[in-house]
Amino acid sequence: MGRILSGVQPTGSLHIGNYLGALRNWVRLQDEHEGLFCIVDLHALTTHPDPAELRAWTRNTAAAYIAAGIDPHKNAIFPQSAVTGHSELSWLLACQTPLGWLNRMTQFKEKAGKKKDQANLGLYAYPVLMAADILIYKATHVPVGEDQKQHLELARDIAGAFNHQYGVNYFKLPEPLIMETAARIMSLRDGTAKMSKSDISEYSRIHLNDDNDTIALKIRKAKTDPEPIGETLESMEERPEAINLIGIFAALSDKPPQDICSQYTGSTFAPFKNDLAQLIIDTIGPIRDEMTRLLDDPVTLDGYMKTGAEHARQLAAGHMEEVYDIMGLLRV
Ligand code: TYM
Repeated sequence: MGRILSGVQPTGSLHIGNYLGALRNWVRLQDEHEGLFCIVDLHALTTHPDPAELRAWTRNTAAAYIAAGIDPHKNAIFPQSAVTGHSELSWLLACQTPLGWLNRMTQFKEKAGKKKDQANLGLYAYPVLMAADILIYKATHVPVGEDQKQHLELARDIAGAFNHQYGVNYFKLPEPLIMETAARIMSLRDGTAKMSKSDISEYSRIHLNDDNDTIALKIRKAKTDPEPIGETLESMEERPEAINLIGIFAALSDKPPQDICSQYTGSTFAPFKNDLAQLIIDTIGPIRDEMTRLLDDPVTLDGYMKTGAEHARQLAAGHMEEVYDIMGLLRV
């Protein structure tokens, strides 16, 4: 049985990209794996959230995990900051990470933009903390969306650098698990941009807590083109918004995109969008209602996270002692 670790930043309401690219796969993997699912609040600090909002989004994200189907009795669900080993290991690994590796990270370049000198050190070191999240538990598999692939490759490189530096075979190289369907859900306003929590347009994404009318409205307003739906995805090559909507439909109905093309070939987008909105409502509706129920009882919700954190802390503490020992840090 492998051990999976993954996380989401509590920087806003989760969207169907997070659900289809990450959460849904965690749920499917939980039976065959030991699961550790953190809410990466330390990573969120790189964006300077308001403290009260950060606390609220941390609970909201935990509720989304559970409502999506992660069983809190079988898996550890916890805020990253509750296990201090993540930050400690991050420093130890930072000392093994050449700057050249960090300079290649496309996410830093995108987020820092032109004002690189004003970006904070935390944003730059973000992938090292992410490597620590994974390696501190010696996780074997990391289920994420495609956008995290480069960070996972870096985590593997850092693990290798540590093993090499100390002549040990201590850290296992974690395997990324990127599901083919829905690895990258795009914005509803621009089929070439990733659906993202930080997009300024609310209409670019469907949130897990959107009500049914909002879902229907956002899908009605989703950008498309005047052409009818093509016979195959290849025939729609230059139509990224059309491909994205077909991809979302396919992922939600667990069918290959080709089946959806065949079903709607020649149709305009109006009837397709009606069916897509209904499909999203059928999937998201129960999750949203369960999230509301969980958030109404923060004592129970925090209790799940407390139990999860205790389990994670125990695992992490044992590994940290071993890492300190390997590195020659005197434990007095
Ligand atoms: P975050 O919060 O940006 O995203 C959380 C998860 O959702 C996936 N995802 C998507 N998948 C498909 N289409 C999209 N449009 C889309 N947007 C987001 C992400 O790939 C991710 O799996 N760095 C991570 C958080 C993190 C982490 C970790 C993940 C911190 N430490 C350790 C795994 C292991 C992040 O920013 O996720």
